[in-house]
Amino acid sequence: MAPSILSADFSMLGDQVKTVLDAGAKVIHVDVMDGHFVPPITIGPMVVDAIASEIHEVGGFLDVHLMIEQPERQIEAFASAGADNITIHYEATSNVHNALLQIREQGCSSGLALKPETSIEHLEDLSDMIDVALCMSVNPGWGGQPFIESSVDKIRSMRSLLPDGVSVEVDGGIDTDTAPKCAKAGAELFVAGSAVFKKQDPAVAFREIGDAIDI
Ligand code: DX5
Ligand code: ZN
Repeated sequence: MAPSILSADFSMLGDQVKTVLDAGAKVIHVDVMDGHFVPPITIGPMVVDAIASEIHEVGGFLDVHLMIEQPERQIEAFASAGADNITIHYEATSNVHNALLQIREQGCSSGLALKPETSIEHLEDLSDMIDVALCMSVNPGWGGQPFIESSVDKIRSMRSLLPDGVSVEVDGGIDTDTAPKCAKAGAELFVAGSAVFKKQDPAVAFREIGDAIDI
């Protein structure tokens, strides 16, 4: 379970991160948007840097999801800011292989994300370059969208296509109902934004999704 800070209250971001770390979160998901690859603009390396030590001090892992064009230009900045994993979008650059190589050269694990309309066949030739394959189960750009049900079959196909060493991550519309379906299909990492931070008690909400996956 990786809470996405996109839905957090940024006026008290450190406290919000602490709440989910205390609740047992080991991975914090950070959504970076540039106003080009997706319409919104969110956060940059400065914010990653601001929360990195709080996460690393308790052995947590910073999962940075770049929804930006030409991500290869920003990999070094996010790695220096404290990212542990950097995920880029297949659709965001014509230099996918090179960008993935750069991520590993920076000492991070590498992720490749696919938008809902992008075929999984693109993963096949890159499977030795990635540690994580991210299935977008909503259109990238916004929190709080409904889960796209066909993602469950896509996750199943990704899991059977990819070697065991590549984790399948799902992002978008994840809650107590959709997370177990994705788990059964083979997902191993579950990003949840609004289903955690928009709830009255994010710690309780985080644990409830975790419990739903374990069943
Ligand atoms: C959407 C982001 C997600 C977002 C998910 O583009 O990649 O990580 O935070 O939000 P929810 O869980 O609300 O769908
Ligand atoms: Zn994300």
